[in-house]
Amino acid sequence: MLVDGKLFIGASRNPDDSLNKPEYLELKFGNRHGLVTGATGTGKTVTLQILAESFSEAGVPVFCADIKGDLSGIAVKGEAKDFLLKRAETIGLSPYEFRAAPVIFWDLYGEQGHRVRTTIAEMGPLLLSRLMDASEAQEGVLNIAFKIADQGGLPLLDLKDLQALLTYMGEHASELSSQFGLISKASVGSLQRGLLILEQQGAENFFGEPALSISDIMRTTSDGRGMISVLAADKLMMNPRLYATFLLWLLSELFEELPEVGDPEKPRLVFFFDEAHLLFDDAPKVLVDRIEQVVRLIRSKGVGVYFVTQNPLDVPETVLAQLGNRVQHALRAYTPREQKAVKTAAETFRPNPAFDCETAITALGTGEALVSTLEGKGIPSMVERTLIRPPASRLGPITPAERQQLMATSPVSGLYDRDADRESAYEILTERARKAAEAEAARRAEEEGKENAGGRWTLPGFGDETEEGTKTAKNGTRRSSGYQRESVLEAAMKSAARSVATSVGRALVRGILGSLKR
Ligand SMILES: Nc1ncnc2c1ncn2[C@@H]1O[C@H](COP(=O)(O)OP(=O)(O)OP(=O)(O)O)[C@@H](O)[C@H]1O
Ligand SMILES: [Mg+2]
Repeated sequence: MLVDGKLFIGASRNPDDSLNKPEYLELKFGNRHGLVTGATGTGKTVTLQILAESFSEAGVPVFCADIKGDLSGIAVKGEAKDFLLKRAETIGLSPYEFRAAPVIFWDLYGEQGHRVRTTIAEMGPLLLSRLMDASEAQEGVLNIAFKIADQGGLPLLDLKDLQALLTYMGEHASELSSQFGLISKASVGSLQRGLLILEQQGAENFFGEPALSISDIMRTTSDGRGMISVLAADKLMMNPRLYATFLLWLLSELFEELPEVGDPEKPRLVFFFDEAHLLFDDAPKVLVDRIEQVVRLIRSKGVGVYFVTQNPLDVPETVLAQLGNRVQHALRAYTPREQKAVKTAAETFRPNPAFDCETAITALGTGEALVSTLEGKGIPSMVERTLIRPPASRLGPITPAERQQLMATSPVSGLYDRDADRESAYEILTERARKAAEAEAARRAEEEGKENAGGRWTLPGFGDETEEGTKTAKNGTRRSSGYQRESVLEAAMKSAARSVATSVGRALVRGILGSLKR
């Protein structure tokens, strides 16, 4: 499906339905983002499937979410069905070969894929506020919580860590307020209740370790194909805010971690954001602005972001303006809002004198779309009425048995699945953190000399125990036998002892969306 550095999308047709020409998406413009829209049942998922297949074939890793389970078939070889063969023939696709794409399945719940987790610290206050739907006052308190944690070396890994820190903040509200700004006990209380709700919704699965490493979604196979990460999202969609926040976090991590590459020959990763309206639904302006900023800037890191949604009006104009490659499936035009969407969608295309865009959008068949991609020096091609090619992988879901088999042989098999085995993962990571801490301490001591030694930052209520806590972390001995009960302090110390990846060896600077910067 790859022709001279171009991905074959399908073939366009003339007004009399005769074949016009093949339509491509140029790899070198793959990082100039894209948009796939259309009413339900018009072919969006199949379009996503063939784009993912082609990027993978070109050696570009892909990340996408599988909202209904019907994208999972991408992991197995397709079967020659009549309507697929017919479509291949109509668009002049010959030979039409079937092939499985290399896939890693992921799942926040660890059921339909490898576990995906992150830590509270890595998610940051902005996205966490969004996840909790926090009020402004509550967001202020969360910001302070992160400031205390970031400055005080109290890594926040899971919901319990944050819960403990909030309890501590409530207990020392007045002392901390003078240092950090107003901490209202009422806000602390509502945040704590909010955390309980998150826990009940199953978000606790998502916070903890081992946290997802970006490198694991950027893998290629030994024969040079990009691995496609498919996130099982059917269950996740019952908590749309968690879904949207998770994808935003991932985008934010990619943005903070990847180096600048300018405009590469092909993208380093392509990220499909399905049900993209969830990102923007009642999102505060500041968040929309930041998303816009990340989308704009991530291009130069070689990441292409493709929004998939029913209605082009779901995506704010500032973001829409940045999406260079567009596939518009059929839209209905019954209600005024639908009519407006059709009009907007039609107006965003570079017109084709051969047909009227607005009329065409409502008349497109299934698996047919108006397509415009970037060409030449990066200008949009004239819009064409295009029959999308059929997939090489299976159309429709895989069986649970097929999924289990693919998970067992996946390159990350065993890396993230250690839920029951958390203690040992914990110890390994603590040991690693201890070494990193030692190296970091040695480096710092060398760099700073002894002058700064007395200037250690302290928190109220910790007293001498802070010293103990530091020692605990360095010595790697976890639970000192003196601990009798799970006090707030102990929880905080325990969390300090777990100086894992989050605080050690990383400068605690937060990026545009609040993720930790490397
Ligand atoms: N490019 C294509 N080639 C062949 N058949 C296609 C193609 N695109 C779509 N179809 C057919 O149309 C059906 C519906 O497509 P698809 O599942 O992609 O729609 P959708 O827009 O994702 O719908 P929903 O909004 O309900 O998720 C497919 O199951 C398939 O039978
Ligand atoms: Mg679909």
